[in-house]
Amino acid sequence: MTYDVAAVRAHFPALREGAAHFDGPGGSQTPDIVARAVHDTLVSAVANRGAVTPAERRAEQIVVECRAALGDLLGSDPRGIVFGRSATALTYDLSRALARTWGPGDEVVVTRLDHDSNIRPWVQAAGAVGATVRWVDFDPATGELPVEAVAEQLSDRTRLVATTAASNLIGTRPPVAEIARLVHDAGALYWVDGVHATAHTLVDRPGVGADFWTCSPYKFLGPHCGVLAADPTLLETLTMDKLLPSSDDVPERFELGTLPYELMAGTTAAVEFLAGLATADWSVAEGADSQAEDEDAGRLVDRPTRRSRLVASFAALEEHEARLAARLEAEIRDLPGLRVYSNAAHRTPTLLFTIDGKDPQEVRRALADKGINAPASNFYALECSRSLGLGETGAVRTGLAPYTDDEDVDRLIEALRAIV
Ligand SMILES: Cc1ncc(COP(=O)(O)O)c(C=O)c1O
Repeated sequence: MTYDVAAVRAHFPALREGAAHFDGPGGSQTPDIVARAVHDTLVSAVANRGAVTPAERRAEQIVVECRAALGDLLGSDPRGIVFGRSATALTYDLSRALARTWGPGDEVVVTRLDHDSNIRPWVQAAGAVGATVRWVDFDPATGELPVEAVAEQLSDRTRLVATTAASNLIGTRPPVAEIARLVHDAGALYWVDGVHATAHTLVDRPGVGADFWTCSPYKFLGPHCGVLAADPTLLETLTMDKLLPSSDDVPERFELGTLPYELMAGTTAAVEFLAGLATADWSVAEGADSQAEDEDAGRLVDRPTRRSRLVASFAALEEHEARLAARLEAEIRDLPGLRVYSNAAHRTPTLLFTIDGKDPQEVRRALADKGINAPASNFYALECSRSLGLGETGAVRTGLAPYTDDEDVDRLIEALRAIV
């Protein structure tokens, strides 16, 4: 089945402004059905969750549907889906909860490949309880984070290892499943930052052995919020500072304050949109039912589950993005003075590059002048940028998204040829 990028693009009103968006790793554009779900929630009767009024029942239903959708997206038990303001906020909250079980002599492992939101919360939480932080370096020449580099930092005092599933700066996808096995052999917990990875590949959290997996719906066509997925029985073991009257249930224990129902409805719609990518069909009713009443015949018929539609859709998306990435790289890697830092064998279609003699901000502005959105920064992957020799400045980053098409790629290639 061919990926119908024109049908996908037709659902993104923002694209009508005409820019070529290579800024997806910072946040994707939003499909109309996601915007509509947010809007419809805000103009419907909604109250605090409950079972008495229709407004209460609507709020409850939105929460249940959102957890089910994220459970399908991440292959994770919906009862362990924690909804939050951002992946950063969730990591901070949970780092403090986990640090309550650590003390002097305990060790926490972080990597220099990661976004700072999967480094600093752990460094600060460890510091507060006298635990030790051990650092894993990646190879700046290849961009690889080998499993051996993680193994070297493990000991019988390791309590938690935090790595990314994909670098938002250079795209590297470390061998998460292999790392998970080592971490568990050492008796530690494994926290995976899936914020960049979840936009490009279908996640199976328990399958890869991540005890915790974070992601941010605004990176995969949804609204601005954050999500943590974990086994509910693991979450049960953690305590949080919380208000006295608020629920101590899991996952509510970790969801401080009133949930953003409109963003949760938008997130469900984003998962539905992703599930429709392979067929370019967004008419399938919401829900993960594998069977539904065939209205005409009045009998039960098989209907693909949302998870199986996600499997097909991510396969189609990965193929689409890989084809465009290959085209782009074949044209720009050899441009004179253009230096690419995204070199790992296994990575997302995210390219970080500099052009000799040019300030990255100058390159970014030259691209913006041609209607090409590709920012330059360290993108908060500060340790990674420093390890690459790019300091605080960082470099220009281009990322692909479900709505990127050949014309976007042509525009970028042509613009870069003119800049070098
Ligand atoms: C890899 C990665 N981790 C974490 C974050 C932070 O996510 P949030 O904005 O939801 O806190 C980002 C955001 O750019 C990211 O790319």
